[in-house]
Amino acid sequence: MRSSLVLFTLLAAVNAGRAGLLRIPIRKMQSLNDIYRENNLQYVGPTGAKYAGGADVPIHDYSNAQYYGPISVGSPPQNFNVIFDTGSSNLWVPSSTCSNCGTHPLYDSSKSSTYVQNGTVFDIRYGSGPVSGFVSEDVATVGGLSVKYQLFAEINNTQGLGLAYKLGKFDGILGMAWPTISVNKMPTVFENMVGQKLLPQPVFAFYLSSDSGTDGEMTIGGIDSTKYTGSLQYVPLTSQDYWTVQLDSFTINGASVTSTTKAILDTGTSLLAGPTDDVKKIASTVGAKPFFLNPKEFTIDCSKVPTLPDLVFTMGGANFTIAGKDYVINSGGTCLFAMTGIDVPAPAGPLWILGDVFIRQYYTVFDWGQKRLGFAPVN
Ligand SMILES: *[C@@H]1O[C@H](CO)[C@@H](O)[C@H](O)[C@H]1NC(C)=O
Ligand SMILES: *[C@@H]1O[C@H](CO)[C@@H](O)[C@H](O)[C@H]1NC(C)=O
Ligand SMILES: *[C@@H]1O[C@H](CO)[C@@H](O)[C@H](O)[C@H]1NC(C)=O
Repeated sequence: MRSSLVLFTLLAAVNAGRAGLLRIPIRKMQSLNDIYRENNLQYVGPTGAKYAGGADVPIHDYSNAQYYGPISVGSPPQNFNVIFDTGSSNLWVPSSTCSNCGTHPLYDSSKSSTYVQNGTVFDIRYGSGPVSGFVSEDVATVGGLSVKYQLFAEINNTQGLGLAYKLGKFDGILGMAWPTISVNKMPTVFENMVGQKLLPQPVFAFYLSSDSGTDGEMTIGGIDSTKYTGSLQYVPLTSQDYWTVQLDSFTINGASVTSTTKAILDTGTSLLAGPTDDVKKIASTVGAKPFFLNPKEFTIDCSKVPTLPDLVFTMGGANFTIAGKDYVINSGGTCLFAMTGIDVPAPAGPLWILGDVFIRQYYTVFDWGQKRLGFAPVN
C-alpha cells in the first residue's frame, strides 16, 4: 500500500514534469516476409489492395505492418497491442465472439463494467476478404489516458487479413487519420481525446526506431524534442481525410520522377508507395529489378547500396532526403527496394504514400490543432 502510494506520487510528479506529455513505446516486429520465410511459407508480399476502396473507405491489408504498441479497453483494463495507424480512422480489437482470431487476446464485454452495447454492423473489405464485426462502446486507455464513451469495433471475423493477422504481433488497429474517413463515422480516439480535453496540446508525434531491439515512441499531447535534430519543418495539410500534404516535387539526381503532387503520411504502411508507372521507372533508374515472386516489388544488388542516388521529396519548400541504405531492406540476403506501386483511385488519389521508410528518417509531428505536419531528421 505504502510503496504503491509512493510510486503513484512519483509517477504523478514525473507526468507533471512532462506537462501531460504521454509516451507510448512503439515496438518493431520482424517483417511478415521474414516471418513467412522462417515458417517455410510462400512469400506473398503486399497485395497492393490497401487503398483500393475508393474515396472515403480506408482499405488496408497490413501485410507489411511492423510497428505496434499497447492500449487497453474496458474496466478493469483488457490489454491489446495495436498498430497506431495514421492511414485509417477506426479502432478495432478482436472480440470474444471471434472464432478465427488465433491466439490473440479477445475483448470480453461481459467482463467490463463500463461497456455499453451498440451492435451496429461493422465491415471493412480488404484485398483478400472481409474483416467484420459489430460496434461497442467502452473506455479506451492509451498511455494511461482514459477516453470515455469510445465507439470501436469488436471484430469477430478476420478472414480478410489472412496470415498477416495470424502471424502478426498486433491484435487490432487504432486509426489516427481524420474522422471523415472513419467507417460508420465513429468518432476517432484522438478526436475524443481532444473533445474530452484530455490533452495539453492537440498533437501527436512518431519516432520509429530502425532496429527491432530498441523501442520507438509515440507521444500524445506534445512533442519529444530529444528525438530529432534541428527545427521542425511544418507543411500545411491540403485535406483532412488521410494526413495529406502537397508534394512539391520528388526528384532523383535533380530530375523529377513523378507528376503526382499529393502525399500522405502513413505509419500503417511500411514502404514508400506511389503510382505503379512512376515506381517502375524509378526502380529502373536506381537499378532495381522486378522481384520474380511479386512483380510489384523490386530487388537491388546489395553491393550497389553505397552508390545509390538519394530520393528527394520536397514539401513545404524543404527537401527531405532518403539515402540508398535507408530505402533498401535486406531481407535474409535479398535486398528489396522499399518502394511499391499502389494506384489509389480518384478523388483521394493518385498520391504518394510516405510510410515507415520515410518516418524512420524524419520525426513526424501530426498537428491536429494547426492542421499541419512537422518533420525533422531523427536523432
Ligand atoms: C459477428 O457479429 C455479427 C454482428 O453481430 C453477426 O451478425 C455475425 O454472425 C457474427 N459472426 C460470427 C462469426 O460470430
Ligand atoms: C452506435 O454506433 C454507431 C456507429 O457505428 C453510432 O453512429 C451510433 O450513434 C451508436 N449508437 C448509440 C446508441 O450510441
Ligand atoms: C532541394 O534539392 C534540389 C535538388 O534536388 C535543389 O535544386 C534545391 O536547391 C534544394 N532546395 C533546398 C531548399 O535545399
